[in-house]
Amino acid sequence: MGKPVGTQGPLKIGIIGCGKIVGQYLDSFRRLGGVRLVAVADLDATRAQDVADEYGEGVRAIGVDELLAAGDVDLVLNLTIPAAHAEVALAAIAAGKHVYGEKPLAATTDEARRVLDAARAAGVVVGCAPDTVLGTGIQTARKAIDDGLIGAPVAATATMVTPGHERWHPNPDFYYVPGGGPLLDMGPYYVTALVTLLGPVASVVGAASHTRSERTIGSGPRTGETIPVTTDTHVTGVLTHASGALSTLVMSFDAVATHAANIEVHGPLGTLAVPDPNHFDGDTRLHRLGGDDWEALPVSAGYVDSGRGYGIADLARTLAAGSSEEPRAGGTLGYHVLDVMESLLESAHTGHAVEVTSRAERPPAVVLEDLADREREGSLSA
Ligand SMILES: NC(=O)c1ccc[n+]([C@@H]2O[C@H](COP(=O)([O-])OP(=O)(O)OC[C@H]3O[C@@H](n4cnc5c(N)ncnc54)[C@H](O)[C@@H]3O)[C@@H](O)[C@H]2O)c1
Repeated sequence: MGKPVGTQGPLKIGIIGCGKIVGQYLDSFRRLGGVRLVAVADLDATRAQDVADEYGEGVRAIGVDELLAAGDVDLVLNLTIPAAHAEVALAAIAAGKHVYGEKPLAATTDEARRVLDAARAAGVVVGCAPDTVLGTGIQTARKAIDDGLIGAPVAATATMVTPGHERWHPNPDFYYVPGGGPLLDMGPYYVTALVTLLGPVASVVGAASHTRSERTIGSGPRTGETIPVTTDTHVTGVLTHASGALSTLVMSFDAVATHAANIEVHGPLGTLAVPDPNHFDGDTRLHRLGGDDWEALPVSAGYVDSGRGYGIADLARTLAAGSSEEPRAGGTLGYHVLDVMESLLESAHTGHAVEVTSRAERPPAVVLEDLADREREGSLSA
């Protein structure tokens, strides 16, 4: 059984993987009272040491094995590259830790299934990014749908285009191998948002292209180095939700710019323009049937001023309440999202529609709340 936590105070976190994204988690951990960072590790010990030095507060930089064995780590935060997600998660679970990982849950559904099965057998919880959908942006859009402002949704579009992350990431190799590409890298934000807004996906049709065999790194010490591309870099498709709604998806590392909204949702009474699902906030705009223009909706739901790591605080609350419910940014949802993306690629490569066999229900809505304030008040009154 996993360590019972929550009754003894904050959920204690050990991070494995101290690369580009770790800083955003550190910002959140400084604000949140329900989680406490205690240790960090990386294959590159200097990266872990730099993070420990920057964070302070007694956080120690240790080896990966030492972190996995540490008695004061309740949850391993897995910020490694996608190819290592499953291996690190399985090691954490074998050590009796809860685990929360960056997206995607694993590079393949086979690996992800092993992670969920091992966690169930060990009695520990699996969480998975993205937690952006718990912020005020997507949650306000969800509330607008749930309140009936556009009627029953019939369709959505989701568009993400960029010329490629090798322009800004110093080690972009992982974006161009299986487990990466625009779909597995950016798709989790969009597909998780679509499932949050419209419910689970029942089947998909996809098409994809792989336009260049090399990319050139544009920043950092490796500037000018070329790296191989072994994955599709433009992926498009249609998701048929279990509700019958149809979402059209375009995910590309091969396009310069677009005028398209990140996500639009259409219903008989109106259209919603949904903010960027890679951000926690942003305006939700509504164009009502018969209306003259778009109106920005007031922020009405979601974790206020949130950032990466709020999904772990949400998970910590579930654990502290002794609930057996899946956390909102949970492994079942992460698995379904990965299954949808893998099915899209399968459809693209076979030319056939693919049934999505996994299911994840829409996680419970998040009421409008400043979690950091709430946890600070809680610790002051404790
Ligand atoms: N960079 C971003 O803007 C961004 C944004 C959101 C999510 N993410 C996700 O976060 C994850 C990490 O991305 P990143 O950009 O920080 O990558 P990165 O390459 O900058 O950092 C990954 C770190 O993990 C370490 N690592 C790799 N395998 C390991 C292992 N087996 N054990 C211990 N350490 C290991 C590496 O040494 C490296 O320091 C990815 O899943 C990515 O999709 C990244």
